[in-house]
Amino acid sequence: MIDLRPALAAVEPEWRRLERAVYERMHFILGPQVRAFEGQFAQAMGAPHAVGVGSGTAAIEICLRAAGVAGEVLTSAMTAPFTGVAILAAGATPRFADIDPETLLLDPDDAANRMTRRTGALLPVHLYGQPCRIDRFRALARDAGIPLVQDACQAHGARYQGQPLTRFSPYVAYSFYPTKNLGCLGDGGAVTTGSARVAGLVRSLRDGGRDPNAKGLRVQISHRAATNARLDELQACLLSALLPHLDAWNAARAQIARLYDEALAGCPGVGLVRRHACSVCHLYVIRAARRERLRTYLAERGIATGVHYPAPLHLHPAFAGNGLRRGDLPHAERAAREIVSLPLYPFLAADDAARVAAAIRAFYTK
Ligand SMILES: Cc1ncc(COP(=O)(O)O)c(C=O)c1O
Repeated sequence: MIDLRPALAAVEPEWRRLERAVYERMHFILGPQVRAFEGQFAQAMGAPHAVGVGSGTAAIEICLRAAGVAGEVLTSAMTAPFTGVAILAAGATPRFADIDPETLLLDPDDAANRMTRRTGALLPVHLYGQPCRIDRFRALARDAGIPLVQDACQAHGARYQGQPLTRFSPYVAYSFYPTKNLGCLGDGGAVTTGSARVAGLVRSLRDGGRDPNAKGLRVQISHRAATNARLDELQACLLSALLPHLDAWNAARAQIARLYDEALAGCPGVGLVRRHACSVCHLYVIRAARRERLRTYLAERGIATGVHYPAPLHLHPAFAGNGLRRGDLPHAERAAREIVSLPLYPFLAADDAARVAAAIRAFYTK
């Protein structure tokens, strides 16, 4: 579905130059390269501050810890399981709401109906690169007096109505998993925020609760319940080399997505997912009748596909006891049966995307 090699080749000289400097410094954790990348990433996201962490899961967990969240956290049932895992890691309890069937994003009306006095935070997800109705979630969180944490793990570079995501809440979590729009060669992540206080807390929470400004032996004092989730210097080299290309590569993704839109419009058996212009097109997802047969048909023709995601989170054993059963979130459950993700990455040739769309059409019209 994704070939990372062209992107790596495009940045290799700069990436290797930065890596050589790390080996010369022999400073592998929380050194000048991570600091430099944090400044570059903050600027690229339009955020006042960015803090590198060990993964997207850690970014969400640390946001919840920084916000002092206890009790229940309400999120989308249609997301990566790691969204729910991060809630558990923060010592909170995941609760789930249904999606808008047209966009597959968390539905603000359903979320509002499911909020209770026990809801300690809202955690909407900008899924597939498409910002959710973050203005609505901001209003819901504000009215309830609870924090709003944004899962932007699939939405590098996305803005909502032209505004950076940090304008809507001081907790925005990103993942640099290798296949993301901005990915490293292992695990990595970041938190962006408009608050210097939150940025300082996140720096402490990623590093065992230590004080990032402490001097001498006081460095070894832990001040708060925290985790160890630091972005490392070597991953930051690649991220700094890739970042200047992010906007152009997001534009290339959008072009392929438009090609799929046009080639699959009106195709029997296929339902298109509504996408706004502000999407950074992390994944191209369709609804497909007889999904598994379609996937086999495509695989036989050398076309890889994915399913993001095959089960809504309220049905995962890890989140048992969340109060919901099969049938309770019908839109997420139906989507989980129907969705399929098509090949999409910035260097996918237009001819190859056209071949994928033609094969799908052939499957449904043969
Ligand atoms: C929506 C979403 N949330 C959270 C995560 C967790 O990120 P990571 O794999 O970097 O821990 C991912 C990626 O896997 C994701 O796609």
